[in-house]
Amino acid sequence: MIRFLHQQREIALGQLPANTSILDYLREHRGLTGTKEGCASGDCGACTVVVAKAGDDGLEYVPVNACIAPLGSLHGTQLITVEDLKDGDRYHPVQQAMIENHGSQCGFCTPGFIMSLFALYHSTETGDREEILEALGGNLCRCTGYRPIIDAAEQALAGASDDQFSRRAQATLDQLRALLDTESEIEALELPHGHYYRPKDANHVARLLTEHPEARVIAGGTDLFLESTQALRELPVLIDVIAVPELHGITVDPRHIRMGAAVTHRASEDVVLADYPELHELIQRFGSLQIRSQGTIAGNIANASPIGDWPPVLLALGGSIELLSEAGRRSIALDDFFLDYRKTAQQAGEFIAEVLLPRRNPKLFLRAYKISKRFEDDISSVCAVFALEMKGDQIIGARAAFGGMAATPKRAFTLEKALEGINLRVDHLDTAVAAITEDFQPISDARASAEYRLAVTTRLLSRLQEEFRGDTDTRVHAVEMHSGELAIHD
Ligand code: FES
Ligand code: FES
Repeated sequence: MIRFLHQQREIALGQLPANTSILDYLREHRGLTGTKEGCASGDCGACTVVVAKAGDDGLEYVPVNACIAPLGSLHGTQLITVEDLKDGDRYHPVQQAMIENHGSQCGFCTPGFIMSLFALYHSTETGDREEILEALGGNLCRCTGYRPIIDAAEQALAGASDDQFSRRAQATLDQLRALLDTESEIEALELPHGHYYRPKDANHVARLLTEHPEARVIAGGTDLFLESTQALRELPVLIDVIAVPELHGITVDPRHIRMGAAVTHRASEDVVLADYPELHELIQRFGSLQIRSQGTIAGNIANASPIGDWPPVLLALGGSIELLSEAGRRSIALDDFFLDYRKTAQQAGEFIAEVLLPRRNPKLFLRAYKISKRFEDDISSVCAVFALEMKGDQIIGARAAFGGMAATPKRAFTLEKALEGINLRVDHLDTAVAAITEDFQPISDARASAEYRLAVTTRLLSRLQEEFRGDTDTRVHAVEMHSGELAIHD
């Protein structure tokens, strides 16, 4: 049985297919149509709901894309949808502010905007514009624009958080903890159409994988659920690792930052940025707050997409992963993990238990660039990460890795060799630029042409040099092709 709270009631479900999304459950099984379906792929935010979880410091309100979130992930949490915000005949402060600032622009996107702002209302640290823009980055408006919505957010966040949810917080926490206490009896959520397993330790995950070779391992589901919503595949047996405490661990030792398979992007941000502040922009642009709150780094690697943003980071910085199975644990460098398009060295019965990011080399000059059509909430056309070991102005060691340039995320070995020995302050990069065409013959697709990909990669090398010299800041410029020439816009 899946047990969670909704509208002050405990809901217990055992009758739905394993791959039911929260959105399908709400709209098709509950008749609650306030939450909308726009893209069904985690890109537009129309389906945003909020999931409240019992954390160490009280309730955590997490915005979630309901279209790609498995219903099983609700176990032990409180589900909050747009229908739940009104308190008697009084609108929630976020709803009231949206009305007063004319922020309700269309019926399709407004529920999602309201739920993203409701999550922020309960988690805001500063209430400033930057925080508001980050919270709204995963909610798209194609009709009017964002100013009235941002005005509404500023008004709603101006006062202290005081709503029916804050007033009931302790009672909700007690209810959630009681639900989680009974969890040991319901490790396997057996549904009539398949199984949704929710093991409590990593060895149990490995055992289940042996028993069910057809099973898929799931954490946030932000990639895996696209197979259900876009490719209409059945996912009859899912093994959810989110209830395994050891897979939530983040540990920092002198050599590595170690992150368990269930660590979300958002949970890892502070520790990663402490060593690598240069990754700030890439991490912010990895995906919306909804996706970063739900998806995991391990999932981004296991998915093996040629355009994932974490693989180039780990390849350039010398990262590795630990794979676990009933046969034991083995470590593999990311260099050896991606074999071909969506094909990895992961064997049957194995799952990624941990991701290891090396600690910072003090001689490192690092740059990570994401080129995409939209600045926020978009997939990379090219992701480039350069990790250069410097002796003064001279490159004495280079690792460069790319997404979007080949069938797998890939290092550019010829380019790396060409960069070694270069004085980044005075030398020209002609040889390095020429090396890129030896490393890659990218394809043309909906995101970019092969010509664009090669041209923009060349330009990124120049930018890397300009930034080393301190000639420019690190703001991403829009890059466009005009008749084969690159135009850079501030
Ligand atoms: Fe677009 Fe879910 S429907 S993000
Ligand atoms: Fe829906 Fe603008 S608010 S498209």
